[in-house]
Amino acid sequence: MTREGAAAATAVNSGILIFFAVVLFALLNDSGPGALPDLPPMVAAELEEDPDEERDPLVRMGWGVYNQERCSACHSIAGQGSPRYPLDGVGDRLGPDELRLWVVAPQEIQPGVRKRPYDHLSDDDLEALVHFLGLLSEP
Ligand code: HEC
Repeated sequence: MTREGAAAATAVNSGILIFFAVVLFALLNDSGPGALPDLPPMVAAELEEDPDEERDPLVRMGWGVYNQERCSACHSIAGQGSPRYPLDGVGDRLGPDELRLWVVAPQEIQPGVRKRPYDHLSDDDLEALVHFLGLLSEP
């Protein structure tokens, strides 16, 4: 192969590599199976208006827990999820202790409620979830 030929082949190969790197990056970031849906609008608005570098990562982590635990099988936020029990405004009505209890021991608040205790969550996951729920204002 001539020098020019080798250089051209290298250029083409790099182009192909870059193309696949970009596709892989896009898949991992946007449309991969583990990708999180966008934050609910009132939560996104609050993080934008009042950024807090300690709270914000917790809130995002809490949104991850909410999705992972499939809370939307029974609850909706801003119209997304089951319309049975909307959580809109819950962050204004309930404090962190009540929110936490609703997750880990709902029967203590409302005996007979059709909801299992989410008592398997790690402390970190639970705190993140409570931070997230605390920002659920009326949309
Ligand atoms: C099997 C259905 C079900 C699932 C799944 C579920 N919940 Fe609930 N949740 C309920 C019911 C029923 C209530 C009581 C609602 C009522 O009486 O208005 C409730 C109440 C709540 C409340 C208090 C709401 C209020 O308006 O005072 C919060 C907060 C809450 N759930 C959070 C969660 C979170 C977070 C998850 C996921 C970890 C979750 N729930 C999963 C059924 C469920």
